[in-house]
Amino acid sequence: MRNIVLIGFMGTGKSTVGKRLAQSLAWDFVDTDYEIGEVTSLSVSEIFRRHGETRFRSEESIVVARLSQQERLVIATGGGTVLNPLNWDALAQNGTVIALHASLEAILARIGNKNDRPLLKGPREAIEKLWSERQECYSQADFIVDTSQKSVDEVVKEILIQLERMTKNEFSEVAKD
Ligand code: S3P
Repeated sequence: MRNIVLIGFMGTGKSTVGKRLAQSLAWDFVDTDYEIGEVTSLSVSEIFRRHGETRFRSEESIVVARLSQQERLVIATGGGTVLNPLNWDALAQNGTVIALHASLEAILARIGNKNDRPLLKGPREAIEKLWSERQECYSQADFIVDTSQKSVDEVVKEILIQLERMTKNEFSEVAKD
């Protein structure tokens, strides 16, 4: 059984939705930022501050390579994880990739004043630029769920419906052969 991989910008709900989704499926939940913290004994902010983003990205790729070898995981990635094509390939090879989308307004309302995301420290224009630049990458997912106006339960339900549809389609493709 393949993994389920949640991608998307910061504040789209990857970790919250991922935990609930994993509960519904009785699968394990993992969060790449949390795993990086366990390996380095540093928070994401501390790694950025002390060692820089390059070091963070290298720890992130190591975590991704390890998790991609496992099965039946719901994996919440960091917002920048899949921008590295090697990370994308590793995760997609052994998982269904689901993008959580949210409007910039919804994102800023959720996390705008929290202090734990180094890349959200700049002015709104810089965050908006990052958000816009990344949409193309996120849109390559197997499917996209807009979380802007939805509760966690609604998002999980939508994911479960889409996953069931995908499974049915796979079976009907096999039946056609
Ligand atoms: C990042 C997103 C963060 C974290 C790091 C970098 C990004 O994760 O990995 O601050 O590049 O978008 P969340 O998306 O879970 O906030």
